Amino acid sequence: MRSTTAEINLANLIHNYNQMKNTAQGSEIMPVIKADAYGHGSLEVSRAFRKIGVNLLGVAFADEAVRLRQSGDTGEIFVLIPNTEHDIDLYCAYNLQASAEDFEVLKLLSFEAVKRNMKVKTHLFINTGMNRDGIDADNALEFRKKCEGLSGVEIIGIMTHLASSELEDRTFANIQLDRFNKVLNQMSANGFSFKYVHAFNSGGVLNFYNESYNIARCGISMYGYMDYPSMSAKLGLKPVMTIKSKIININKIDVGDNVGYSLKYISDNKRSVAVVPFGYGDGYHRILSGRAECLIRGKRYRIIGTICMDQCLIDIDNENFEIGEEVVFLGEQGGDTITAYELSEVMGTIPYEITTAIKERVPRVYHY
Ligand SMILES: Cc1ncc(COP(=O)(O)O)c(C=O)c1O
Repeated sequence: MRSTTAEINLANLIHNYNQMKNTAQGSEIMPVIKADAYGHGSLEVSRAFRKIGVNLLGVAFADEAVRLRQSGDTGEIFVLIPNTEHDIDLYCAYNLQASAEDFEVLKLLSFEAVKRNMKVKTHLFINTGMNRDGIDADNALEFRKKCEGLSGVEIIGIMTHLASSELEDRTFANIQLDRFNKVLNQMSANGFSFKYVHAFNSGGVLNFYNESYNIARCGISMYGYMDYPSMSAKLGLKPVMTIKSKIININKIDVGDNVGYSLKYISDNKRSVAVVPFGYGDGYHRILSGRAECLIRGKRYRIIGTICMDQCLIDIDNENFEIGEEVVFLGEQGGDTITAYELSEVMGTIPYEITTAIKERVPRVYHY
């Protein structure tokens, strides 16, 4: 096995699930495991959730659900992104729950399901202001009424998605929730009920918990992060991924010597430079060159030169490290921790992108 690994702590994953379940005061949690469980590996992560009795898992695309089915998953899987006419057969063949926004597509889905003598369970996605997916809130009731004519679909859910659940300023999220609640009231006034009513992602559970919805779609929190460190601290979440590697070479350099590509780093001192096989081809973004730090024996050292596709270079301050010495790029070592928050701040992005970017060629090592 390569000396670079992403360790996935499944005990922390379950801890985070329980923290969110407690915060949502008993409302169900639908762990979101799209994009290979935000880089953590959707097969093992889904198994860990099923083992503790999780009913419904969320993915983005039908193909992601098919991978789970082919690995033996027989539980409920909801595909968050509304389906298109191109993947209708997958919903039927693999018994997937669909998200609906386009009546013509839903009609085709129903037609295919009838042919197969089945019903596809479907959630109505209501657009309340994100303006990405969903049925316009004003047309929701009419859409639901028209579904009565579709014998191949069973409408079991209704949902919306908040554009700003993480923001302290709740004005816009409250506008969206008001629109959603209005739709829910119209539905119940017309005799339509739903097994699953959902609006909250991780940020929504923390900031807007509301008992009128009975399931929350939680992604990032499952993996120990939120949009901001203060949010995950409030929830008592624990990061799930640790990225470790090993020093494979140490070069002694002198004043004026170059380090790495493009002459971007010329040394102003004698120093030792450790070579570690972790690069942008693994998802360690090149923009972190010269900016990120790693941990060796619990102390921080800077990445210098430009991060290469397969390796990076570390200024180890003339320390006498051995070849094979452990290097931590993400996670805890010797009492210090490099978080996805820290790396995302350096990159000007969000923690979601840090773990999701870690490529398949970095072996995942799972433990409880
Ligand atoms: C529709 C929908 N629901 C839930 C989630 C999960 O959000 P989070 O990871 O912030 O919990 C996402 C993520 O992008 C989403 O698109």
